[in-house]
Amino acid sequence: MLEVQNTGMAELRIGDKTIELPMLEGAEHEGAIDIRALRKETGFITYDPGFVNTGCCKSDITYIDGEKGVLRYRGYDINDLAEKCEFVDVAYLLVHGTLPNKEQHDSFSAHLNNHSMLHEDMRHFFGSFPDHAHPMATLSAMAVSLSSFYPELEDTSKQENIDYKVTRLLSKMRTAAAFSYKKSIGHPIVQPRHDLKYCENFLNMMFSTPVNNYQVDPVVANALNKLLILHADHEQNCSASVIRMVGSADANLYASISAGICALWGPLHGGANQHVIEMLERILEDDRGDVKKVVARAKDKNDPFRLMGVGHRVYKSYDPRARVAKQMCKDVLDQLGVSDPLVDLAQELEAAVLADDYFQSRNLYPNIDFYTGLTYRAMGIPTNMFTVMFAIGRIPGWIAQWLEMKEDPHARIGRPRQIYTGPVHREVH
Ligand code: ACO
Repeated sequence: MLEVQNTGMAELRIGDKTIELPMLEGAEHEGAIDIRALRKETGFITYDPGFVNTGCCKSDITYIDGEKGVLRYRGYDINDLAEKCEFVDVAYLLVHGTLPNKEQHDSFSAHLNNHSMLHEDMRHFFGSFPDHAHPMATLSAMAVSLSSFYPELEDTSKQENIDYKVTRLLSKMRTAAAFSYKKSIGHPIVQPRHDLKYCENFLNMMFSTPVNNYQVDPVVANALNKLLILHADHEQNCSASVIRMVGSADANLYASISAGICALWGPLHGGANQHVIEMLERILEDDRGDVKKVVARAKDKNDPFRLMGVGHRVYKSYDPRARVAKQMCKDVLDQLGVSDPLVDLAQELEAAVLADDYFQSRNLYPNIDFYTGLTYRAMGIPTNMFTVMFAIGRIPGWIAQWLEMKEDPHARIGRPRQIYTGPVHREVH
């Protein structure tokens, strides 16, 4: 990790008292003011709903420049990784900090295979969920259940133990995701296979049945690989922050990941990919594809409706993941010979957004979720599984964030303050 530079002192004047606060600079020159001594020295706290201005950690995993539309994992551009790497190598990169050599790749892949099955007793859980259960509910329950079935290896100091933890989660979550889909359609589950790679294995568990001769389409496997890479990390977003927060209380990794899955499910976060498709379907059915009407609704401050898949807390220019996802969506549809009226509608909606003053003045652009759902749809993945796909992709990033927090000597239990606005002291009479 590069040491954060001290670049001087900022002065804060409160009444007639002035205090000095250290100014810090990260590897890419982003500045920060270290306020750790603030309350002790002044009695004041900061007020920052949504943590818009609050840095909660120093991190060397992922870098985002929201103004320029840059995203890098461990220094590598997202486009470069999506173009040239396998998802499992990017998972390794996020957790270990370097891309694996051949030996490390083979060992990591062998671990993924060895951990791919679910304990038989866990398999029975699936039967207890109602058929209409959302797969994200099932997945988060399965993640925390792993802590009961595989409680060992809490010690993360040894590299081999880290790989056990990482591959166990990555591999078993993938199996659980496919099982939850099979359960939802009433089909028998399909077990993982050692002769298939990570993405192919998932597709086979999803789409193979006892009566078909399912062959994994390389176009679909390649697309899945890229999509999972796009999802793999995004620094201190809502779900990663939840994972750090839960982990800061010394809760185990599985419990922390389970909480992260729940956060990701929200429509303002990863759940947006499902909501984009549902929004486009509604526009087509209820509004006969009237994009102008929908854009007007999104701008109306008296209407709670928002365009799903548009806007981002950090990106004030085009989301670089959305750029890759948009191109991929076109390529996958072309290669599979699929035509989808929702894709045309999405493009029309995007053009209307980019040309509109309201969205321009607020720097609102399509985000990752705008085109990924359309690509999953072309690949045959059902809509209620989109956020599950996001979660599978994000697991390596979540683990990397959790491990980094555990090793950070400055990490403390997460415990924000508040400004109390309730009744002042009163007595019960
Ligand atoms: N449609 C219409 N207006 C929007 C939208 C939208 N999708 N997004 C933001 N705005 C407007 C807000 O109303 C606000 O306007 P104002 O300044 O007049 O009050 C302004 O843009 C700033 O928006 P905030 O809500 O303050 O931005 P914030 O950073 O808090 O929220 C968020 C970001 C949640 C992503 C928001 O843009 C949104 O709700 N988008 C739709 C949901 C979505 O696509 N989420 C996925 C994000 S990517 C991810 O998490 C994986």
